[in-house]
Amino acid sequence: MTKNKNNKTIWNTRIKNNSSLLFQKTTNSIDIDKRLYKEDILGSIAHVEMLFKQKIISFKIKNKIIYGLNKIKKEIDNKKFDFNTKYEDIHMNIENRLFELIGEEAGYTHTARSRNDQVITDFKIWIKSATNKINSILDTIIGSSLKLAEKNIETIMPGFTHLKNAQAVSFAHYLMAYVEMFHRDKKRFNNNLQSLNENPLGVAAIAGTSFNIDRNYTTKKLGFERPSNNSIDTVSDRDFVLDFLYSVSVCSMHLSRISEELIIWNSEGFNLINLSDKVVTGSSIMPQKKNPDLLEYLRGKSGSTYGNLFSMLTILKGLPLSYFKDLQDDKEIVFNSYDTLLNCLKIFNEILKNVSPNKRRMLELASSGYIVATDLADYLVKNHSMSFRNAYKKTAALVNFAEKKKKNLNELNLEEFNEIIPKLTNDVFKVLDLKNSVNSKKSYGGTSFSNIKKMIVKYKKQK
Ligand code: ARG
Repeated sequence: MTKNKNNKTIWNTRIKNNSSLLFQKTTNSIDIDKRLYKEDILGSIAHVEMLFKQKIISFKIKNKIIYGLNKIKKEIDNKKFDFNTKYEDIHMNIENRLFELIGEEAGYTHTARSRNDQVITDFKIWIKSATNKINSILDTIIGSSLKLAEKNIETIMPGFTHLKNAQAVSFAHYLMAYVEMFHRDKKRFNNNLQSLNENPLGVAAIAGTSFNIDRNYTTKKLGFERPSNNSIDTVSDRDFVLDFLYSVSVCSMHLSRISEELIIWNSEGFNLINLSDKVVTGSSIMPQKKNPDLLEYLRGKSGSTYGNLFSMLTILKGLPLSYFKDLQDDKEIVFNSYDTLLNCLKIFNEILKNVSPNKRRMLELASSGYIVATDLADYLVKNHSMSFRNAYKKTAALVNFAEKKKKNLNELNLEEFNEIIPKLTNDVFKVLDLKNSVNSKKSYGGTSFSNIKKMIVKYKKQK
């Protein structure tokens, strides 16, 4: 890349001395924000087109600038662009190169614009496409979860509360619980798109501009819904950054929860699932080990994404209006959260394809812990005219009785049942059957097989 005439910064007329290397190294952000080059060029093209339409710059100058900008885009695309820390950030690097390519007319580009509105415009456009990318991977994950759920509608396992056996459920129902979460994640990300849809371009440094610009024109060109309302707020606002970071945090929290779930289920104590060799790692000393490291990685990474959310909240806390250099860190934080989440989502999708339920063990564990006690209480309410509280007490007494005899409920005979709850008939044994128990939960949202089937169909259609 040829150097410009003096290899000087834009502000060298005012600021005579070059800043120290340490200072340059500290304040520049080019290594981070060069990721915004496409958005920056897009924004600049829309801006100069608007300047021409408003007769602020000539046709010739507009075309020259656009020619230069497109050339720069190709240079960066092809890794032929020499990013220089001396020019601080992506905006000044591109402007500097534009001067080299087309000469003094490059100087018209920044009419009625500041880096303050420029950077948020770039950043909002970037976050929009990042959001779409995340949502499309979430779709893939929902698809993989539905596939696994479909194969396991009748796979019965214990549903846990307090990590104690609570009631029997279908493994598919557990998976579909996470489908709900991933679906909400998508909704959360999409809601953010609504609120960030205000075009910042044209508010300039803080006050707006005296040039007769048309902000509606750039709004349309850049795919925003409307121009932002207040120039001071616009250059200071990073709420859209917080929204994004929060949504990333919630999504990574969901990944963390299911990872923890699978880690527990994969332990020898539970032994409810198997992980294929593709997603486990070994130990350097214990030859027998197959560790769920990837799941632990996913569980841990929510720590970084929460940290990023808190970094940004802390940067904004007490920051007066309007632009300050403090805000420059927003991009490093967002890029890190995005890269982390994207990687985690890809890993999780692989895990979904490499996990299988240990059906026999699931059933065995579900058969312990008096898991059908609630079903028995419900049965007494329905067939023996008891209030639920009375039925609950009778069943609790029966559980105590069975526990003393070291038997499961279905191992008691009818006489033993009748010792505690008189007048029961053989009918009662149907209620103790796990499959019947799961299938009886037909209330909307419950774990019955037919409910799950319907939900799977519903989500398949939504994709
Ligand atoms: N690189 C800067 C940032 O990301 C762009 C805005 C600079 N504005 C300024 N007044 N120094 O925050």
